[in-house]
Amino acid sequence: MDWHDSLLDYLAASNEDSCAIRLFSEVVLSEVRSYRESISWLDVGPGPGTKTVEIYRMLQETGKLARACVLEPSRDWRRFLQARALNGEIQVCPLTLQRYAELERRGDYVPPNLVTLFHVVYSKSLIRTLTHYLAGRCVNEDKLGPATCLVIVESEHSDFCELRRRLVSIGCPVPVSPAERLRNAIRRTNLKFEEYRVDDKRCWVGTREVSKSDWLLPFLTALSIREMARMPQDLVARSVSCVHEFLKERPDGYLCVPDIALKVHFR
Ligand SMILES: C[S@@+](CC[C@H](N)C(=O)[O-])C[C@H]1O[C@@H](n2cnc3c(N)ncnc32)[C@H](O)[C@@H]1O
Repeated sequence: MDWHDSLLDYLAASNEDSCAIRLFSEVVLSEVRSYRESISWLDVGPGPGTKTVEIYRMLQETGKLARACVLEPSRDWRRFLQARALNGEIQVCPLTLQRYAELERRGDYVPPNLVTLFHVVYSKSLIRTLTHYLAGRCVNEDKLGPATCLVIVESEHSDFCELRRRLVSIGCPVPVSPAERLRNAIRRTNLKFEEYRVDDKRCWVGTREVSKSDWLLPFLTALSIREMARMPQDLVARSVSCVHEFLKERPDGYLCVPDIALKVHFR
């Protein structure tokens, strides 16, 4: 099992996909439907594409979708997408957001008016890239009509964040929550945005003992099993027991893992 498997296992154990798709339908779809221009959509980091495919169908039904493109820098996910999820209907670019933004500025790509990022913007550098991209578009592209960006990340109130805080406290170096940093960075751009809470997201972890080969620990640490094998074994054992102790506080086997969504208006 590696990071890819742990994401698939997590998606199967949670209602994340349906929560994200519902939020998109409630807060973005009617807005983009009212655009005078056709919709040019960019989904950044689709991973297995489970959300992307559903949203693609919704956008197609508007009759206004002119272009759909995903940026997926991971070769494994691209293979997965091409073989299983997308059926060649969506253009797949092997680019990071950083590289794409440079190429778009150079004129190699038509600027999209709908950008989605589901659980992608977790690092400081990606937060910086995204905010520069959105703010830069606002200044440079007077000719473009309105554009919308939907970014979803874990809420700071998620059990995952609490678990990661506890892992940090025992010396396991994991990033905690990007929510506050992302919110502040977007506020500094002066772009108009609205925040939504996805409070009903749940994840089933079961009531049995967690082990180091379960998906939960690699998922929390964003490390593959191979990378975890290189961690000091006493730290792995302490991390497993830390997670196990936390799960005792959730005897029904469910974690509450709310997200936040920011809808940013740019041009
Ligand atoms: C946690 S997965 C989320 C996958 C999917 N959006 C979902 O919600 O199920 C993060 C995704 O972001 C992609 N990613 C990571 N860094 C990226 C970057 N710099 N630019 C674009 N995509 C990136 C990864 O390859 C992966 O597909």
